[in-house]
Formats: sequence, structure tokens, C-alpha cells
Amino acid sequence: MGGATTDLKLIDEKGLRIDGRRPDELRPLKIEAGVLKRADGSAYVEWGENKVLAAVYGPRECHPRHMQNPTRAIVQCNYNMASFSVSDRKRPGPDRRSQEISKILSEALEHVVLTHLFPRTSIDVYIEVLQANAGTRCAGLTAASVALADAGIPMRDLIASCAAGKVADTIVLDLRNEEDNFGSADVPLGLVPRTGEIVLLQMDGDLSVEEFKTALSMSTDACHRIYAIQKEALRKKYCVAPAVIPAEVANAIHDVATEKPQGSDVPPNEMPGNLKEGVQ
Ligand code: CDP
Repeated sequence: MGGATTDLKLIDEKGLRIDGRRPDELRPLKIEAGVLKRADGSAYVEWGENKVLAAVYGPRECHPRHMQNPTRAIVQCNYNMASFSVSDRKRPGPDRRSQEISKILSEALEHVVLTHLFPRTSIDVYIEVLQANAGTRCAGLTAASVALADAGIPMRDLIASCAAGKVADTIVLDLRNEEDNFGSADVPLGLVPRTGEIVLLQMDGDLSVEEFKTALSMSTDACHRIYAIQKEALRKKYCVAPAVIPAEVANAIHDVATEKPQGSDVPPNEMPGNLKEGVQ
């Protein structure tokens, strides 16, 4: 980031990007929940050329004890890039960048996990980047919230995350490596879709106020699309046959799912089709 010069044509005459995407187009995104047997919860995300695994353990007793909080759980996120994930072999082990990303992702996730239900415990989230092509913190956060849900950790909602930025004077969504390296701004966002709360927002580079608003609206819109894919991944794993859902349970789920949060423009969630059918 920082607008290094390049001969690459980042935006062509038709307004398309280096990989043929429109400015507001996401890279292809696939999410799978529950991919690891040994972890309490897990998820795998393929997002463009990014490949990211998230694994969750806990809640379990927090060690060392001085880190325990007597009133709530702590969420400890560990973001790690595999040596083979980038073109220049990355030196194994933590560095300043991975410590920063681990910290901001922990703080984002603590906003949605109902930590007060598990005093003195730790919920550990491991994010392993197997292949990187910019946007790995967003892919990691998106995967981690699906993994937490897969672990059965009570949460207010999932977090969906996506970056927007500026490349060759154009505001674009979901930057890939060349755009990240030679563009002039990158703004990762983490959103709680049901309430519209922002739990992660960073800015690398410069944008005017108007450009920032455009980028934020683009990434917010993308987060709602990502949220639908996250929920679909969970539904796919936990799809329950309609006949076994008692009517009162299906009705209760419907009430919670369609409750519109106060002060939010977010449309109420759709009730999964299989649950609708379960209501007698
Ligand atoms: O991945 P994210 O965009 O969240 O973070 P970044 O610090 O902006 O890194 C952008 C990209 O630079 C990464 O996704 C990697 O593709 C690349 N990178 C790298 O090649 N070697 C590193 N040691 C760190 C990042």
C-alpha cells in the first residue's frame, strides 16, 4: 500500500480490474463449516486465492491464571501465516504484523461472543493462512466466526468482513495483492450484520471523506452478501430434517431470527426454508 508505481494497468479502459472484476465485485468465496475433527469448531474459507482455516477450542479454563477474568471469558485469537502461503517464503513464527492482526481479531470477536456466560475461561481461535493473496485478516475473521458458531459458542451474531480501497483513482472492493501493493488505500471492515455495528475498521493509505464513505458503503453491502454465505455454510452442516423440529421450537427460532434490531436498517433475517416447513 502507499501507491508504489507499476506498469500494470490496474483499471482498464472498460473500468475493469486486473483480474477482470468490476470495482464492486467480490472474488469467489466458498465457506465450509466443521472441517476439523479434533477442534471444538472449525471452518475453511477459500476466497479468491486466499485459503484460510480457523479452529476453535473452548471455553476452557484460562491459563496462565493471571489472565483469567472473573466476570467473563477472554477470546484469544492466534493469526498465523504458513511459510509457504506467500511467494517469498515467510519466516515461521509470530511477527509484528501477525501479533497486530491477532489482537484486532480477538477484540472484534469479543464483541459478539457472549463472554459473560463463561467467567474465568478462554476461548481460543487459531487462524492459519495456508495461501495468501491480500485480504487474509478479513478471510480469517469471516472463517473464525463460522468456526465459533460451529463450536456452539453463544454469540449475538456472526461477523462478516471485507475490505474496500482505492486503486488508480477508483474505489474498489476486496483488493487482491497487486491492488494492495500498488493501490493508494485499503480499508478492512468487520461488520455485525444484524445490528450494523462495526467491530473492525482499519485504514492503510489516504482517502477523502467522500471516498471513505463510498468504500464503507461498498464493503458494508459486501458483508451482507458474505453473511448469507456464512449462514449457508452453517445450514449445510446443521440441516435438520423438518419433521423433527417441534412447532414451538421452529416458532421460537423464527421470532429470534426475524426480530429487527432497534435503530438498524438491516432487513430481518430470512427464516431457513427447512424451518418454515417444520412449523405445523
Ligand atoms: O492479508 P491482509 O490484506 O489482511 O494484510 P496485509 O498486511 O495488507 O497483507 C497483504 C498481503 O500481502 C497478504 O495477504 C499477502 O498476500 C502479502 N504478504 C506477503 O506476501 N508477505 C508477508 N510477510 C505478509 C503479507
